[in-house]
Amino acid sequence: MTDEKPYSQACENNKQVILEKLATVFSGSGTILEIGTGTGQHAVHFATNLPHLTWQPSDHPSNYQLCEPWLSEANLPNINEPLALNVIADDWQVPTISGAFSANTAHIMSWPEVEAMFRGVSSNLQLHEAFCLYGPFNYNGQFTSASNRQFDTHLKQQNPKMGIRDIDELKRIGSDNGLVLESDFEMPANNRLLVWRVHGT
Ligand SMILES: C[S@@+](CC[C@H](N)C(=O)[O-])C[C@H]1O[C@@H](n2cnc3c(N)ncnc32)[C@H](O)[C@@H]1O
Repeated sequence: MTDEKPYSQACENNKQVILEKLATVFSGSGTILEIGTGTGQHAVHFATNLPHLTWQPSDHPSNYQLCEPWLSEANLPNINEPLALNVIADDWQVPTISGAFSANTAHIMSWPEVEAMFRGVSSNLQLHEAFCLYGPFNYNGQFTSASNRQFDTHLKQQNPKMGIRDIDELKRIGSDNGLVLESDFEMPANNRLLVWRVHGT
């Protein structure tokens, strides 16, 4: 039988290292909203290995059903049906969550969408809850590798609104939304896992 599940080699490469960090950040029970789920490989790996959590996949309305084949094959009790969520929406129709996760989305979204993602995450999290954001990022406007620079050029050729984001810019929109960068973990292949936490004033 042909395996028709969508497949991302990058997800296979990074899912275990991301899991090891998520296990410590999301150590309590609750529902984690995943933004921009994509194929569903991350959702299945994290829900399988973090059974104390309920995983809530979501993606842009044009893409949210992409993960269905992985989800239905895994048939896990702790993954909800994927939600259609465009981060730019004013009012996110999501269940009560106690954390959020997103991988490889900030460089795909336009900057207003990145801002909207931080705003929406912040409005749906409570004090001290965390948002984990994985992907490639710049520091002080500098690429961390030649391959990230090439990737950025490639993205901008497809759509000038895409591109690798600068940590300082993300810190600024985090701060505007009560999210403080608590940890910045180095990950393989010139990626980072940024852990943002809701802070009180
Ligand atoms: C490069 S893919 C990453 C998918 C998956 N997280 C991964 O790591 O393989 C970028 C994802 O961002 C989603 N996305 C782009 N714009 C979005 C938006 N405005 N709201 C929600 N998701 C969006 C896309 O649909 C896609 O699933």
